[in-house]
Amino acid sequence: MAGIHDVAKMAGVSASTVSNVINGRAGKMRAETRQRVLEAIEALKFTPNSAARQLKSGHNTTIGLIIPSVANPFWGAIAHQIEQATRKRGYRLLICNAERDPEVEQSYAETLIGSGVMGVILGSSPLNFDHLKDLIARGLQVAAFDQRARESGSGVACSVSVDQELGGLLSAQHLIGHGHRRIGILTGPVRTNSRIGRVEGVRIAHARAGIPFDESLLWQGGGVSGFGDMQGAELGRIGVRELLSRENPPSAIVCGNDMFAIGAYAGARDLGVSIPEELSIVGFDDIALSELVFPPLTTIRQPTAAMAEMVVDLLIHCLEEVGAPREDNFVNIRPQLIVRGSTGPARRRPNRE
Ligand code: RIB
Repeated sequence: MAGIHDVAKMAGVSASTVSNVINGRAGKMRAETRQRVLEAIEALKFTPNSAARQLKSGHNTTIGLIIPSVANPFWGAIAHQIEQATRKRGYRLLICNAERDPEVEQSYAETLIGSGVMGVILGSSPLNFDHLKDLIARGLQVAAFDQRARESGSGVACSVSVDQELGGLLSAQHLIGHGHRRIGILTGPVRTNSRIGRVEGVRIAHARAGIPFDESLLWQGGGVSGFGDMQGAELGRIGVRELLSRENPPSAIVCGNDMFAIGAYAGARDLGVSIPEELSIVGFDDIALSELVFPPLTTIRQPTAAMAEMVVDLLIHCLEEVGAPREDNFVNIRPQLIVRGSTGPARRRPNRE
């Protein structure tokens, strides 16, 4: 079985450099060096003995991940990528599906801390972290994923997110550039920081272009209970049918995520509306399915694999070197607009306007 010295030899670095990578202390290391070490770890199937490390360092080497649900492909992929990133660093991951319910999140976090886990990645993008305050006071380190959680007093140790507002802005600017003037938003209830940011970005794009945003075109789940993370496709289908049956319907729709967008395809098909000729659609996330549907979906890419590595690095760093959170513990990544076939020039739809 390969040991730390084999990894060091293959990567051409010292054993302490390998140890720094494994323990999430690669902050000042050159990206290429860290990459070489990770590749050697992978090639040699090196697994640091977590029990031995725990005894030596006194650290629990298990991390918790609390997300809405793996039933949503975005979160399923993230859970997988975070699990890989933790394993590479000699940690293990426990995954909890809490459907963004603060009580369920609090109860999972309580169970985790009760079994000695001191680090949790939270992916629900809540409006505040009050439900975790007591556990944070008991030493739980929380890494927020999907929102930038820098506000003082939140108690959050670090965070990784795309710039949600910029994502909304890029999608709406793309549509406005195609001549769309009535743009709808199809999403779940706008009660998370990530959704609030995206909607705000769409509003800003309208304001910058001098186009009024019609608030009645913001569709928020049609009264779904909870947040609608697992019913994305179903809600997308219902939402697009509702939006398109308005007297003055939108010619383009920005969706809260790719599953809403894929559901919207079905709703448009039900009504005989063709994409992109009669309706343009933009998603968010760039899940694997988005380029397989027809037409391939224009969307906002979240670089999830890199984000998974980052959040695990930051959390392990916080677990091993506890101190006041630093500004660079809060990472905001630029999302990317991926233009595919679901968006095109605005055109009047015959018999509908
Ligand atoms: O349901 C997946 C979506 O919820 C993603 O866009 C993610 O960023 C979160 O807000």
